Amino acid sequence: MGGSVSAPDVTLSKERTFLITGANTGIGYEIAKGIARSGGSVIIACRSEDKAKEAIEKMKKEIQEEFDQKQVDKTDEVAAPSINVQYMHLDLSSLKSVIDFVKKYKESGLPLHVLICNAGVFVADKELTSDGFEKHFQVNYLSHFLLTLHLLPLIKRSGPNSRIVNVSSKGHWFAEFNLENIQAQKSFHVNTFYGNSKLFQIMSMYQLSKRLDKETVSVFSVHPGFVDTNILKFGTGFLQFTIDLAVRFGMARKPVSGAVGPLIAALHPSLNGETALYFSEEKQKPPFDMARDEAKQEIIWTYSLQCLKGYLNDDVLEEIGLKLEDIQTLEEARDPTIGTEI
Ligand SMILES: NC(=O)c1ccc[n+]([C@@H]2O[C@H](COP(=O)([O-])OP(=O)(O)OC[C@H]3O[C@@H](n4cnc5c(N)ncnc54)[C@H](OP(=O)(O)O)[C@@H]3O)[C@@H](O)[C@H]2O)c1
Repeated sequence: MGGSVSAPDVTLSKERTFLITGANTGIGYEIAKGIARSGGSVIIACRSEDKAKEAIEKMKKEIQEEFDQKQVDKTDEVAAPSINVQYMHLDLSSLKSVIDFVKKYKESGLPLHVLICNAGVFVADKELTSDGFEKHFQVNYLSHFLLTLHLLPLIKRSGPNSRIVNVSSKGHWFAEFNLENIQAQKSFHVNTFYGNSKLFQIMSMYQLSKRLDKETVSVFSVHPGFVDTNILKFGTGFLQFTIDLAVRFGMARKPVSGAVGPLIAALHPSLNGETALYFSEEKQKPPFDMARDEAKQEIIWTYSLQCLKGYLNDDVLEEIGLKLEDIQTLEEARDPTIGTEI
């Protein structure tokens, strides 16, 4: 991909449909805007209706202003912009919300060509979700995994050249791989648990891509860089102090630059037929060694399916070559008291 730092300049048909989680602000907002500007249809899946609707209005206004500016400068002859962006409710801290979202999405009759798992949290203290999972684990990773599995039939049907893009992080370097402490049963540090969630996103990319035809569905992971967004404003203490200092000294990228890597992964035609690639900012690179450890990938794959078994069915599992009874007989790797069945 060379050293390019600009988003791919592509023209998309409005039938090409992109679903982006957490796109009301930050990197996700800029990803959505980049795709909408290129002509694609965008669904922003957010937990706050007010914030999502405000973001859509802001996006329309900004794209209109860009257009007006081009007209004034007469630098380009372009048609008046008409963007296609819709909101749908999704709260990734609830597995039930994921299932409700999937149902609504399927009822909408929309296709799905590109799923971008972008939403994320970085929380200073240990928090459990209402499903009983450590918050980074569920919001950043597990709920996206559930969303992906349920949408996979639609993504496959919408192919060829459908894509799944996980917005991960170089922070996967801080991960520990310890099933005994996977839900912070013994100890918690934000870097470790954020890092774990980002590691598991990359591991699931490798595991999913093994089970999918890359001509139909590609799976990619992207570290967007160190980007000045709300996620960096998480509390107090030394870590917050050093991050604030780094931002103040201009070390963070703007969200629009952070969106370039995910946009390349979502749009670049040269990536058709490729899969299981990790991008650090705009460059394709190997992730850290642990992410490529197949034995560990299998463990987290099995553990995750165990966590989700009350939310899966044979139709969904068939897409990855499994049946519900296979999961039921998988070695019980998780605390059976967490995760509720529907
Ligand atoms: N910024 C960086 O330096 C950096 C570096 C590496 C990776 N990343 C990754 O980039 C992605 C985007 O982060 P960002 O930097 O753009 O941060 P951000 O501005 O804080 O955006 C995060 C988005 O996730 C949404 N979100 C949080 N909890 C959610 C939930 N339970 N359900 C649904 N959506 C939820 C937020 O919604 P609300 O607005 O409602 O909170 C927001 O839309 C994340 O996956 C992050 O880990 C960021």
